[in-house]
Amino acid sequence: MPATLDPEPVMTDNSKVTRGYSNGHNGASESIKVKTCTNGNKVTVTFPDGEFVYHSQWLHDTRCDGPLGAARNVDTAICAQPLELVHVTSAKVTRNAGRAELNVSWDNGQTSHFPVEWLRVIAPSVASPTNGEKATKPNDLNKGWQVDSLRIPEVSYHDIFDDEDHIRLNQVYLTILDHLLHPSSPGLIKITNMPPPNFEDELNHVNNLNTLILKKLFGSVFAHPTLGNDKSFNVSSRATEAEKRKELPNYDTDQVLLPHADHAFYEQPIQVQGWYILEGTSENTFVSVPASLETLKQEAPELYVSLLNTPVALGRVSGFYGQDVYQMTVDTAVSMVPGTKDFKRIRWHPNFIASILGPYDGYLEARRAQQKFLEIMRRPTHQLSLKLGPGDMFIWDNYRVLHGRERVYDTPRTGVGQTVPEQVVHDKYRALVIELLRGRINDQWLVHLPMHQLREMLRLFQEERYSFTN
Ligand SMILES: [Fe+2]
Repeated sequence: MPATLDPEPVMTDNSKVTRGYSNGHNGASESIKVKTCTNGNKVTVTFPDGEFVYHSQWLHDTRCDGPLGAARNVDTAICAQPLELVHVTSAKVTRNAGRAELNVSWDNGQTSHFPVEWLRVIAPSVASPTNGEKATKPNDLNKGWQVDSLRIPEVSYHDIFDDEDHIRLNQVYLTILDHLLHPSSPGLIKITNMPPPNFEDELNHVNNLNTLILKKLFGSVFAHPTLGNDKSFNVSSRATEAEKRKELPNYDTDQVLLPHADHAFYEQPIQVQGWYILEGTSENTFVSVPASLETLKQEAPELYVSLLNTPVALGRVSGFYGQDVYQMTVDTAVSMVPGTKDFKRIRWHPNFIASILGPYDGYLEARRAQQKFLEIMRRPTHQLSLKLGPGDMFIWDNYRVLHGRERVYDTPRTGVGQTVPEQVVHDKYRALVIELLRGRINDQWLVHLPMHQLREMLRLFQEERYSFTN
């Protein structure tokens, strides 16, 4: 492992280093216990770090080791099954190739073998903890960072392109994706040891180092509908670029650019963003959205609720693509994981939020919520300021980390940007973790597993915590 690469997603909050459901058991093989209720409606599994009750029916509906695996048809789809519930007739922990499985039989004759790691990582979402406490969920880790607790992970450019050792390269990519996307990570990394740029290419939006890096990591980058594939977007003081930006008077190259997310006015914003400084120096800023939201929630809970629930209109018109492009969307500033109160995505760009679309009665509070949110983000405790110069390259999660610019120190200054859509990001992260789990567990069990639980399961397998020892 190169010295510049942190082996795990790290939050340098002094009070904790969180990595999922760890209870202090590392690398130990622990026993698993199971019991059923007398009428067969429930199955209770005792893990080394928690005890959970599952619906017998949920286990039956969710099993992935039948003839169809993770797929469903008219006989197995949840919505098409008999109204009468099944009951567990037996449940026991057995061994398969040295690993623990939960062997469950139901009164309809079906049998299934659940990997215990799979049961453990999904438990907080679907099972009931017997200690009566709320089970830890992935988003509990997503507290973000304040400036004094942040250590930006650094990754060497050469490590990303060192193709000789496939296993090692996968580990490098996993580490990078964890740093960017894992709920406990900063969502921001710096690429070091950047090679010298081809100046002409960089200015012409082609073959950029930024694009090369993001394509190497994710396979592809955002395809602009009119610019074509693999073209960077440049923000430059140079005459040809600055001329284009004049069409957007709120977006020129030397004024303060408040913390914002790119693509805030797109129906589907990009998720990962890279930023490379080709020339000039500037003071740039980064802000952790979860941390700012947490402060807002603590200091003004009524404004926090208003910010989360009030839709706004964001839009712009730009002509520099050859013809006028009109783009706008309506959304709340904060999107949650569907059906939960867990943070998923910020959509925030002060320059493009033109109106608050909430009801008349809530307008003044919604307006105050926006002001308070910005005031929090601009505090020295929350807004990280960095002086960036030629060769500096950062990548961040545009859903959790806002970026901005306080000032330009000298010109010509050119920043080269590139982005990656959410779907591309998630497909890559899943594919990488599934490849690393191959040979440990049947792929079918991985199909429906949410991303964070998938990542957590890889950790459990690597720590060998749940090997069968009874
Ligand atoms: Fe931006």
